[in-house]
Amino acid sequence: MGDSSTLRHLLLSLLVVLLSISAVRSFFGRLMIPDPPDRPRIKRSPDLPLRFNHDGTFKILQVADMHYARGIGTRCRDVTPSEFAHCSDLNTTRFLRRMIESEKPDFIAFTGDNIFGSSSTDAAESMFAAFGPAMEARIPWAAILGNHDQESTMSREELMLFISLMDYSVSQVNPPLTSIDGFGNYDLRVNGAFGSDLVNSSVLGLYFLDSGDRSTVEGVRGYGWIKESQLAWLRGASEALQNVKLNNEWNTLHKCEVPALTFFHIPIPEVRQLWFKEIVGQFQEAVACTSFDSGVLHTLVSMGDVKAVLLGHDHLNDFCGEMDGIWFCYGGGFGYHAYGRAGWHRRARVVNIELKRGEKTWLGVQRIQTWKRLDDANLTKFDEQVLWDVAAR
Ligand SMILES: *[C@@H]1O[C@H](CO)[C@@H](O)[C@H](O)[C@H]1NC(C)=O
Ligand SMILES: *[C@@H]1O[C@H](CO)[C@@H](O)[C@H](O)[C@H]1NC(C)=O
Ligand SMILES: *[C@@H]1O[C@H](CO)[C@@H](O)[C@H](O)[C@H]1NC(C)=O
Repeated sequence: MGDSSTLRHLLLSLLVVLLSISAVRSFFGRLMIPDPPDRPRIKRSPDLPLRFNHDGTFKILQVADMHYARGIGTRCRDVTPSEFAHCSDLNTTRFLRRMIESEKPDFIAFTGDNIFGSSSTDAAESMFAAFGPAMEARIPWAAILGNHDQESTMSREELMLFISLMDYSVSQVNPPLTSIDGFGNYDLRVNGAFGSDLVNSSVLGLYFLDSGDRSTVEGVRGYGWIKESQLAWLRGASEALQNVKLNNEWNTLHKCEVPALTFFHIPIPEVRQLWFKEIVGQFQEAVACTSFDSGVLHTLVSMGDVKAVLLGHDHLNDFCGEMDGIWFCYGGGFGYHAYGRAGWHRRARVVNIELKRGEKTWLGVQRIQTWKRLDDANLTKFDEQVLWDVAAR
């Protein structure tokens, strides 16, 4: 069994390399940029590890549900009649470019339904166009899959492999040497600022999980969910991150916490209960998920390091609500080919993390804040809130 799966992986890797070469050719060929023949194309990688800036901040742009398809030929959904005539996927591209220019994020997290498979004729081309602005801006980015990404020419495994090979992507298919459900389960660590004592230490964790597409369990209908194998891996990743902290004398001395953020596409059933709680933002549609409870909330709470979960999937919800000390925040619909509500602007979420200022150097994380921006003339900023503050504990 080991041999055949190794062979399968080898063939798949080869296929993806060939696909990516041909997609790059066709994409750039279309833009009339000559492609030098026979030169192997090497992935451009960002400087790693990810780290905080000199000013003690690390800013994440969350892009939820772009639903990208064929570019200029793809019509917008749920825009006003006057907007409809001049609206396509290019408006999604334009919004992403404007967000990058205005917020100058250090990292972009694409939380699924990046492409809308059933409107796309070539998944590779749709992805090149969808993630294009992040690659152009040379910003490290990571993506996970939603429930629509795999509906055109690539399987979920092929999509994640392809995404992991794109320029400036820090996405991974799955942790090496583990048997795990889904594709796109990985963790990233962010180091302290250059010039600080924590330059070589992880001060923030980012966990990415594949929430699947549809239920594969007989007798259970509806959307997919995060499985026990994924939670087992997540508990291990969190323990490893916290051990780094414990083994660092400096951290112990300064009683620093190493907080984490988690990203997945489909909400968990408990998010429904936030209807009865105080939230920041709008709760305008039913939470679309399975009612099967796989214990995600319990796991996250027991880990203790996750302060916020960033979700996609329900485009008309853009709120943050808190349960058991963890914030659950929707990104709000970003893409113009995605369903939305005419007159209710497309939007994006920003998560800004700040380090604590020490006497001489930046310390660990002090505060995690979030806000959103609308795709209007001024990219209006709203719903600013603090998700976590070390001093408030
Ligand atoms: C889409 O982009 C076009 C061209 O830039 C612009 O004229 C139009 O107003 C945009 N539509 C929306 C809904 O943002
Ligand atoms: C960080 O690592 C680099 C390279 O290993 C080393 O030169 C430097 O002294 C380290 N800095 C700190 C503050 O630990
Ligand atoms: C954008 O800002 C300008 C100047 O502050 C203001 O006049 C205008 O009403 C704003 N437009 C929107 C859509 O908020």
